[in-house]
Amino acid sequence: MTHRDDMTLTSSGFYVSQEAPISCANPVPTPSVPAPDILRCAYMELVVTDLERSRNFYVDVLGLTVTEEDENAVYLRSLEEFIHHNLVLRKGPVAAVAAFSYRVRTPGDLDKAVAFYTELGCRVERRAEGFTKGIGDSVRVEDPLGFPYEFFHDVEHVERLAWRYDLHTPGSLVRLDHFNQVTPDVPRATKFMQDLGFRVTEDIQDEDGTVYAAWMRRKPTVHDTAMTGGNGPRMHHVAFATHEKHNILAICDKLGALRMSDHIERGPGRHGVSNAFYLYILDPDGHRVEIYTQDYYTGDPDNPVVTWDVHDNQRRDWWGNPVVPSWYTEASLVLDLDGNPQPVIERTDSSEMEVTIGADGFSYTRADDESGSYHGQASKGFKIGNQL
Ligand SMILES: [Fe+2]
Repeated sequence: MTHRDDMTLTSSGFYVSQEAPISCANPVPTPSVPAPDILRCAYMELVVTDLERSRNFYVDVLGLTVTEEDENAVYLRSLEEFIHHNLVLRKGPVAAVAAFSYRVRTPGDLDKAVAFYTELGCRVERRAEGFTKGIGDSVRVEDPLGFPYEFFHDVEHVERLAWRYDLHTPGSLVRLDHFNQVTPDVPRATKFMQDLGFRVTEDIQDEDGTVYAAWMRRKPTVHDTAMTGGNGPRMHHVAFATHEKHNILAICDKLGALRMSDHIERGPGRHGVSNAFYLYILDPDGHRVEIYTQDYYTGDPDNPVVTWDVHDNQRRDWWGNPVVPSWYTEASLVLDLDGNPQPVIERTDSSEMEVTIGADGFSYTRADDESGSYHGQASKGFKIGNQL
């Protein structure tokens, strides 16, 4: 990574700056009207092909709490949540994401959302109370990047089960933490999210300024959503938080005990980006769920932006474990407002998988290590030797 004047190399090996050093050649126009005041990512509406099978996964295996359900949908929440749901499983023909849903500060922010997206020429629908159980008046949009978003303020309050330790399990999910979206043009997506009021916390770049991923926040954690470079629009994962690292290990133990180890895709491990402890699992439809804990506070206005070199082998796993290829290539379709899958557009910028792992698709690199050895160890092959 070339040193840039606005970035400072830290003793941890990444760079920090005050302004997100992401430049965009073909931005979505910035609307003249103010963006809605978004509080946080609130819930995801997932379309699943077998409701009973998915209910078993999210309720019996992962322990989410059922707030309400009927023959077409299950409304689930995490243990510390007081709004009606953090996840809706809706029965449908194609496994996909129907909505990335954000809560806004006031009912008036729904009018702002309508004006903001209407000026951009996006499809916008105001949906009266009752369309989604537990949620009041809402606005749904197809955003300029092709993602289906929902904004709402009014919501039915339910009991926060934080104190109900009789209901907690070793792998308890306590909060919805973030979404992760796949998009072919990360700088364009990031600039648009900045117009929507998001601030960049971390990103991954190369020496040419190609941006491979960016993490953005509204609430004072590392992120509410991230943009991952790849064919899109698609949904990469939805993440739930546990209190501690051992809760994530307990989920791995439970999946093993249930002979469901095939559902573990990547991890457990420690991220470089976000510093969080993580695990990636796949639900019965292949929707990816991250279990995540212990990132850091980002609420100050001068919170430093962290930039990682794409060739830093510790950026995605702090212990240097390689990323499995499926994690880069597989993601869920997203739906338009009629419920039809959005067409997927191929990424033309460099792919993170191509630049960081070899032709076998399963290895890692380090910066300034073109010869393929580092302290005498192979670094372009698999971590332990070169065999697969
Ligand atoms: Fe994540």
